[in-house]
Amino acid sequence: MCGIVGYIGNQQAQPILLDGLSRLEYRGYDSAGIAVMDGSAIHLMKAKGRLQNLVDRLEGSPLQGTIGIGHTRWATHGEPSDLNAHPHTDMRGSIALVHNGIIENHEQLRAELVAQGCQFVSQTDTEVIVHLLNRLYSGDMLSALRQAAAVLEGSYALCVLNIDEPDVLYCTRKDSPLVVGLSRDAQYVASDIPALLHHTREVELLEDKEIAVLRRDSAVIYDPYGRQRALKPIHVDWDVEAAEKGGYPHFMVKEIHEEPASLSKTFTAHVDTNTMTLRQDAFPFTEEEAKSLATLTIVACGTAYHAGVIGKYVIEKLARLPVTVDVASEFRYRDPIMGPGDLFLAISQSGETADTLAAMREASRLGAKVMALTNVVGSSIARLAGDNVLYTYAGPEIAVASTKAYITQIEMMVLLAVDLALKRGTIAAEEAKALLTAMTDIPDKAEALLTDCEDDIQRFSSRYFDKKHVFYIGRGLDYALAMEASLKLKEVSYIMSEAYAAGELKHGTIALIEPGTLVCALVTQAALADKTLSNVREVKSRGAKALVICTESLAERCGKEADELWTVPDAPDALLPLLAIIPVQLLAYSMAVSRGCDVDKPRNLAKSVTVE
Ligand code: M6R
Repeated sequence: MCGIVGYIGNQQAQPILLDGLSRLEYRGYDSAGIAVMDGSAIHLMKAKGRLQNLVDRLEGSPLQGTIGIGHTRWATHGEPSDLNAHPHTDMRGSIALVHNGIIENHEQLRAELVAQGCQFVSQTDTEVIVHLLNRLYSGDMLSALRQAAAVLEGSYALCVLNIDEPDVLYCTRKDSPLVVGLSRDAQYVASDIPALLHHTREVELLEDKEIAVLRRDSAVIYDPYGRQRALKPIHVDWDVEAAEKGGYPHFMVKEIHEEPASLSKTFTAHVDTNTMTLRQDAFPFTEEEAKSLATLTIVACGTAYHAGVIGKYVIEKLARLPVTVDVASEFRYRDPIMGPGDLFLAISQSGETADTLAAMREASRLGAKVMALTNVVGSSIARLAGDNVLYTYAGPEIAVASTKAYITQIEMMVLLAVDLALKRGTIAAEEAKALLTAMTDIPDKAEALLTDCEDDIQRFSSRYFDKKHVFYIGRGLDYALAMEASLKLKEVSYIMSEAYAAGELKHGTIALIEPGTLVCALVTQAALADKTLSNVREVKSRGAKALVICTESLAERCGKEADELWTVPDAPDALLPLLAIIPVQLLAYSMAVSRGCDVDKPRNLAKSVTVE
């Protein structure tokens, strides 16, 4: 959730650290700090609030040195404050570190360290690590880090400076991501790849409990048993511009505009467009395995969970395989019934979500076949899934609110459904080909929709942005989409919002409808349109204002009921979420802008949720 950067090279560290932190600020942002070492001392500067506060403090008195570490914090233990901000140091100021994760046994360790005479200055769990290292260090930091790993419970990514070694940067991790960026005369560390892209594309992924020892001209990695291991860098081909705003006012709207390209890239990675068939190696099942599956359980959090709900509708419909969808934080503690013969799929944009990782481990323990769908190559979730990993090709997603990653997740749900259906013999090859062919039109339709609908959405938001609550309703796939529409509005505009299965409103929630309540009805599924429209009539007759989003061919029917009507191009039912999501994402964005919200960095949220 927090962001970490580290640098050792021949240039001044401060500007490089601040630049890296600015690219990570989306991960967490209630305080920030850096430590720079100049050979004789470790110099620190920290500031509560946004990174700019730190930048302002450093303006008059920059920290000098060519090795340093930096951090943006999302508070878990102790309020956001200068004192609680990282880096933290031992009492002598001779070891400094930044930490991402949670030390679960910090209370016990703190008590032991206090009894040994350590004086704590912060309320953080992190401070125990630096005092512990001080106690364990007797001239060999590698050994101290190894001993600390045996004592620390919980998760951590750490970057450590030691005054005794002015030319060495140490880093290590457990259950919290950390990557090392390699170059000839400088080495970089970050909790997330976008922070490195301006400097290098050769990236080394640290495994759990590995320790990297970085010098200006070398990187050496030790495995958990203390053996040096060979480097196996991956080359990151993400476009640097993909991690920059490129003229858009916010990452969120830029990333929505990147959706057609993300859809195309993800599609061609999985489908041979000459034969319009799924690539042989695209999905990790044999026909026999697909046929023998008893159930599929999809587990994820937030937006990724909503992609799983779409998956349930599409996979059950096409592949006739029973699908359960669960939020990861519930799945992991509910003693799930699962075993060999069951398939488990974790969905995660970042590939680092702590609850989703834990749920995967639980499913593996129970003997299920475990797969993952993620956007980040080499992420913890991808690595845990081994060969059974599917990728979305959305590129780096910087805005906290997930948009382009979500659309590619639902695209992958359709492709997975087609693969399973073909292998299980529940659809004919011609039917699959027709659906895949129709999918090739989706990026162009999405592009046209983006051009057509933005003005209407802005006008609408300027009329409705002061609403206190908004309901989203739909049936079938439209209900699944309504959940995501509602979450998007909540997280970026702070408007209270609920998603309801349209037929369920009258079982209680309709009591909340009063004159002027905004109800947004998604009506893309022709077979269910009349049913949803009768629910629209029910809320309108109680004074609600109805925004209806439907397909072009349903426009006439829906127009009679709607106070405001937006249309999306026609497509096969299973593909309509790929189009209907666009206006609702833009609506959330536009409402948030109209309300003056910090769209890309909504309050209290972080992009990557690496704590429970
Ligand atoms: O990285 P993940 O896909 O595992 O993240 C899951 C959720 O934390 C994430 O989707 C969250 O709900 C976003 N803020 C949604 O916009």
